[in-house]
Amino acid sequence: MGRAGRQCLHANLPRIKANYAPDIFIANGENLAGGYGITEKLFKELISDYGVDVVTTGNHWHDQPETKNFYRSTSQLLVPANMYNVSELQAGYCVALTKTKVPYAVINLTGRLFMKGNNRCPFEYLDKILANIPSGIKVRVVDFHGEATSEKQALAHYAAGRVSLIYGTHTHCPTADERIIAGKTGYLTDVGMTGAYDSVIGVEVALSLQSFLSPVRPRFKPAEGDPWLCAVLATIDTATGYCTAIERIKWTD
Ligand SMILES: [Fe+2]
Repeated sequence: MGRAGRQCLHANLPRIKANYAPDIFIANGENLAGGYGITEKLFKELISDYGVDVVTTGNHWHDQPETKNFYRSTSQLLVPANMYNVSELQAGYCVALTKTKVPYAVINLTGRLFMKGNNRCPFEYLDKILANIPSGIKVRVVDFHGEATSEKQALAHYAAGRVSLIYGTHTHCPTADERIIAGKTGYLTDVGMTGAYDSVIGVEVALSLQSFLSPVRPRFKPAEGDPWLCAVLATIDTATGYCTAIERIKWTD
């Protein structure tokens, strides 16, 4: 989220590579541009300078008007396939090869509970997308962008055995419930935010308080203090597509 999140990620890239050297590196970028969406410049920075393979988004994907002009031109930027203002199924998933030529798919969906807009059913859209992914692609990762823990856990059980990893984003609060469902599918209700935690979900405290205490909602600004990096690391058996280990990452230093 915002500059604090970008700087925190950048500062920790050597540690991520040294500790984990991930074969697939996915980042949710929907709050990169001052908390509001993602610009083409910031997207390219994530891909080219940070080594991110796929950028997912969520309800803020369209906050920067330019995003609507470039998101279709790349398969590395996903928008939630079932969101009310997304019409192409293909915009919500991609298939690619890792550097060692392992095929994988990444899927981006959004929830409906406590989310603005008339989003379509994430369960139905998961099925639709999985039907389009060749059976030979065993490694499948889902970013489920939603507010409600119940909806996230329900979709995870629905997806169990059919995807390798499903994790939540959007709340900006990391949860501590990482597990492997049915011995096959890695799961974490929310990865949390990479950004400033001296804040209210990444927003400057005074501005957030104002939005609760006064009838006029101010424009939010991302906070800067106490940056944390939050992430999830999954180890996936490339032959079966099953998750064999899952680790929650929270670096506060
Ligand atoms: Fe969000």
